[in-house]
Amino acid sequence: MYKILMTYDNTQGLDALISNKEFEVEVHNKPSQEELRELIKDYDGILIRSEVKITSEIIEAAQKLKFIGRAGTGVDNVDKDAASSKGIIVANVPGGNTISAAEHTIGLMLSLARHIPESYKSLKSKKWDRKNFVGTELFGKTLGLIGLGRIGTEVAKRLKVFDMKIIAYDPFAGQDIAKESGVELKSLDDIFAQSDYISIHSPLNDSTRGMINAAAIKKMKDGVRIVNCARGPVINEQDLSEAVKSGKVAGAAIDVFAKEPPQDWTLVETDRVLVTPHLAASTDEAQVRIAKEIGEVLIDFFIKGIKRNVVR
Ligand code: NAD
Ligand code: MLT
Repeated sequence: MYKILMTYDNTQGLDALISNKEFEVEVHNKPSQEELRELIKDYDGILIRSEVKITSEIIEAAQKLKFIGRAGTGVDNVDKDAASSKGIIVANVPGGNTISAAEHTIGLMLSLARHIPESYKSLKSKKWDRKNFVGTELFGKTLGLIGLGRIGTEVAKRLKVFDMKIIAYDPFAGQDIAKESGVELKSLDDIFAQSDYISIHSPLNDSTRGMINAAAIKKMKDGVRIVNCARGPVINEQDLSEAVKSGKVAGAAIDVFAKEPPQDWTLVETDRVLVTPHLAASTDEAQVRIAKEIGEVLIDFFIKGIKRNVVR
């Protein structure tokens, strides 16, 4: 019997795992790091979302752990080196929430362009204000994507239909992928100089942390709009807030933050910065798709010894 620790309480889509007699699944919803350090000792496998961090201390405390299952895409909350040095497999579900994240990105862009959240709030307070909410079209504008992977390409495909010109910076993307999605690959400086909208779809790594800072913003067009549905630390929040306040950046739409929930609320409180609490992947479809797949990956690993979706 394998003991599995679930660190979130939505068991939708996990029926095959929960009903399997080989597994005992226990739910401890969002344990603190201290709680997790104690809990982890008893388990063979753990399922996490983005809130729980598997640090080297947690890995060190683990005594039987063989499998870390990330029910989602980003694995920046797992110390992968520490895990692999102890022979622990880290698996994720890449692609399960791609469409949801792409659709959320586009929703945020349209909301920015047409002032939908502000005008909604205004009318709900019984003000009939049309003058202050004149928007702009996406038609004919240039969208610069930073990261042309799964989500970046789906955003591109959809926004092509809006007749946007789409350019992208991705040091690892091939011309074939770019061509297929109707995107022109450019340098990062070209993205900054030419884009009316910049949307981030890269992972968080050493090359992207703090990539959108005051120096980068200085290279952008006046009135640029910035969307981030990737990872919070890619943006320097203070620098973005200053740039929106000064009018250099016309608006920003942010789904992900340096700390979640934010500890510094400056960016959230800045006017013309739309915010959602890390919701890009939060759809019924994506959650069930991801839960089913990570459940199957876990069962295959423990029962059949098959390693799928392993993150390296
Ligand atoms: P992906 O791995 O398919 O694509 C990422 C792309 O970024 C790759 O093509 C890679 O070559 C590129 N890249 C790597 N380093 C780069 C750099 N320095 N500059 C520019 N591009 C770089 O990942 P994905 O599934 O498309 O996810 C993209 C991001 O969105 C990830 O950070 C992921 O964690 C995040 N995400 C967030 C949500 C959410 O709920 N907000 C949901 C899903 C994914
Ligand atoms: C992901 O990386 O899959 C998304 O950010 C959603 C999540 O964290 O669960």
